[in-house]
Amino acid sequence: MIAIYVWADWYIGLPGDARAEFVGRQSCAQCHESQHSAWQGSHHELAMDLAKEMTVLGDFKDAELTHHGVTSRMFKRNGKFFVHTEGPDGKLSDFEVKYVFGVDPLQQYMVEFDRPADMPPDEVARLQVLRISWDTRNKRWFHLDPPDVKEKLDPTDELHWTGLAQRWNHMCADCHSTNLQKNFDVAKNQYHTTWSEIDVSCEACHGPGSLHVQLAKSGSLFWDRKRGYGLADLKDTSNVPQIQACAPCHSRRRVIAPG
Ligand code: HEC
Ligand code: HEC
Ligand code: HEC
Ligand code: HEC
Repeated sequence: MIAIYVWADWYIGLPGDARAEFVGRQSCAQCHESQHSAWQGSHHELAMDLAKEMTVLGDFKDAELTHHGVTSRMFKRNGKFFVHTEGPDGKLSDFEVKYVFGVDPLQQYMVEFDRPADMPPDEVARLQVLRISWDTRNKRWFHLDPPDVKEKLDPTDELHWTGLAQRWNHMCADCHSTNLQKNFDVAKNQYHTTWSEIDVSCEACHGPGSLHVQLAKSGSLFWDRKRGYGLADLKDTSNVPQIQACAPCHSRRRVIAPG
């Protein structure tokens, strides 16, 4: 009798077409508390965040930076962070910093443009990365010039902080967050970018975890005889799975299709 149960437990696996989905780290943390606490505070956790008192490292106490004759000012108003600097029209204006990027040796700051009033809160519109950046080691503001560019950037130049080259959605996003979907609406020229988690979380390396969680809760002795733990096999003796897990972000590459 027992042999039959064990055989059935081995034989019965997940349906062949079952596809793993992203479940988020709160789910993983329930069973893997030590890995979860080891990950907390890592640069992967700190890869991107909302701009808040806790996450902003730069000096926003009316600090100033003059670069090519433009004096920018970093300040706070009603608990929010602002940069007064040259906008896309060449005029000085106040821009609210909504997100921070990175922790060391520099931190960068991002401003959201073209957000429709009715956009769902979990979607992000066009984000532009300011070139004014914070040097976390020497505690000073500096202007992150593009390589080989010595002159002032014209506001219409695509290298200007409001231009195409500094656009988070297609230049930065999918390496600093988990399960990033760019969702660019060509007809409306509008981004609806989403992530499952804002930072580089468990499933960025281990792959989407819903089948693993399902198997773990099923109590099967064998997990799934075809899919193992239902995650990317990062402990394989070959180094290929680890390269596949890390290199999409830790290399120079270009996205040619979604996902
Ligand atoms: C219901 C509990 C449970 C949940 C939720 C859960 N796991 Fe697991 N996980 C386990 C158990 C049990 C093992 C097997 C441990 C062993 O064999 O030593 C395991 C093993 C693993 C392993 C090791 C696989 C290997 O190849 O050795 C990884 C990686 C892992 N889990 C990641 C995750 C991630 C990421 C999540 C969230 C998406 C998650 N787990 C959610 C229970 C769970
Ligand atoms: C989704 C993209 C992504 C994946 C996948 C990824 N990384 Fe990273 N990693 C980053 C980013 C972004 C940073 C820098 C974050 C920062 O400094 O704010 C980083 C930083 C690091 C650092 C230096 C910072 C630290 O915490 O010490 C190491 C080491 C590292 N990653 C190793 C790995 C390894 C090993 C893998 C694969 C097992 C991996 N990463 C997978 C995006 C990724
Ligand atoms: C191909 C993936 C990838 C892309 C695209 C990417 N990053 Fe990163 N970023 C990384 C990795 C990996 C690290 C960690 C490097 C390390 O610690 O050695 C990192 C680190 C950083 C850091 C922390 C400082 C540092 O050097 O560790 C900042 C700030 C940053 N990136 C900003 C950006 C901005 C702004 C963009 C878009 C213009 C961008 N990144 C695009 C992968 C990427
Ligand atoms: C940057 C990539 C990366 C991230 C992010 C990451 N892991 Fe891992 N994790 C790995 C790698 C690689 C291994 C395999 C280590 C080895 O060779 O033993 C691993 C191993 C594990 C294991 C197996 C037991 C062990 O410690 O070896 C568990 C469980 C696990 N991770 C859970 C998590 C959870 C939970 C999170 C999120 C809080 C997480 N991981 C985030 C890359 C990552």
